[in-house]
Amino acid sequence: PTGITFPEGFVWGAATASYQIEGAAREDGRGPSIWDTFSRTPGKVYAGHTGDIACDHYHRYADDVAMMADLGLGAYRFSVAWPRIQPDGTGPVNVRGLDFYDRLTDELLAKGIDPVVTLYHWDLPQTLEDRGGWTARETAEAFAEYAQIVHRRLGDRVATWTTLNEPWCSAYLGYGNGIHAPGVQNPAAALAAVHHLNLAHGLAASALRSAGARNISITLNPCEVSPLDPANPADIDAARIIDGVANRIFFDPLLLGRYPADVLEHISRITDLSFIRDGDEALIHQPLDVLGINFYTPSYVSAKAGAPGAGDYPGSQGIAFRPPVGPVTDMNWQIEPASLNRLLTRIHRDYPGTALMITENGAAYPEVPSENGEVQDLRRIEYIDAHLRACHDALADGVDLRGYFAWSLMDNFEWAEGYKKRFGIVHVDYTTQERVLKDSAKWYREVIRRNGLE
Ligand code: FCB
Repeated sequence: PTGITFPEGFVWGAATASYQIEGAAREDGRGPSIWDTFSRTPGKVYAGHTGDIACDHYHRYADDVAMMADLGLGAYRFSVAWPRIQPDGTGPVNVRGLDFYDRLTDELLAKGIDPVVTLYHWDLPQTLEDRGGWTARETAEAFAEYAQIVHRRLGDRVATWTTLNEPWCSAYLGYGNGIHAPGVQNPAAALAAVHHLNLAHGLAASALRSAGARNISITLNPCEVSPLDPANPADIDAARIIDGVANRIFFDPLLLGRYPADVLEHISRITDLSFIRDGDEALIHQPLDVLGINFYTPSYVSAKAGAPGAGDYPGSQGIAFRPPVGPVTDMNWQIEPASLNRLLTRIHRDYPGTALMITENGAAYPEVPSENGEVQDLRRIEYIDAHLRACHDALADGVDLRGYFAWSLMDNFEWAEGYKKRFGIVHVDYTTQERVLKDSAKWYREVIRRNGLE
């Protein structure tokens, strides 16, 4: 491969999320979240791991920010834990929770790192779940209020406001196949959650805009889906259905102001759609300054009589997902960088004028420090290098791509996989909390310094 340079001002960052790194689960007035409950439910998370301590970032944030500065990060994407701000999801504000993000923001700014805030990365206050969680419309309304509370405190210093991270996961993994909190398995509930998450975004984006926020975004994790046999009409239709329930069910109301007719028709066999009220699509359709995209792996689907369907896609019976082919990461996720290019150019084509940001991309690999203390994670370097080249190709194809955030800054609590899967460019020893830059972190530092690849 030859050297490439990114446009001037291209944002280089790394990302994390509150429940995955903070720990301090019972400190300073934080209320319980659905992930505290779920991780304590036997059999839900690998080896019973929880986020109680995680990377202890709540106490070590200053050192962690110093490490980010050492890497030369231009931006840091983190999430705010709703249960730290409103322990019950609504009502009284816990000032000590806001104080933490205030300190973190100041620390970042002091080091010249741009804070990119995600308001919701899956840690819903348990009290709200007890009232229906994302299947209830009230949760969307509560979210808009919470968003304003955080903005009131940080809005003078934080420019970029991301409402939700991957509502696809919250809805389909949380309420569909139940592999994420709150662990509900009910396809109709998953679809109600999709709508209320879309609505939560719309209500919050509108409130944030009125309060003066200038850079508003949401982060989606599109399924880059292709028909297994591109010449087979049944496979093409299978891909259309999955693209509908996975992608267009979010993209279309957010960016075009309406749910696609074929998707509504498809899901009306599962739900009566009574959760969609007149005017909702207009509420969801708020101006977006930048759309965050998280990308890891492609999908290939085919029509197959009798296939049980993927449990995370309501109504996908008769559609088979091809198992990964070729090299995979430690998540068993197929590695195919060209798939990222297809995804970005497709969004650019179907939703013209949308500015994009890669808000997560990276790979799980198990390497730990060797005897000399080095972490030789060459495969992670290769993964990120190849995906950055795909981003650069997309830029050449005219895609308005503004930046790239590596997932993740450091090893952390990987949801149902617990601490078993390591996505960090920095290694974390969970017994000592020692951080060690992996070779990928040192390599990424050079990428940032050079604004490109060798
Ligand atoms: C994404 C999540 C993130 C992390 C990566 C591996 O779905 O947003 O928290 O778990 O996957």
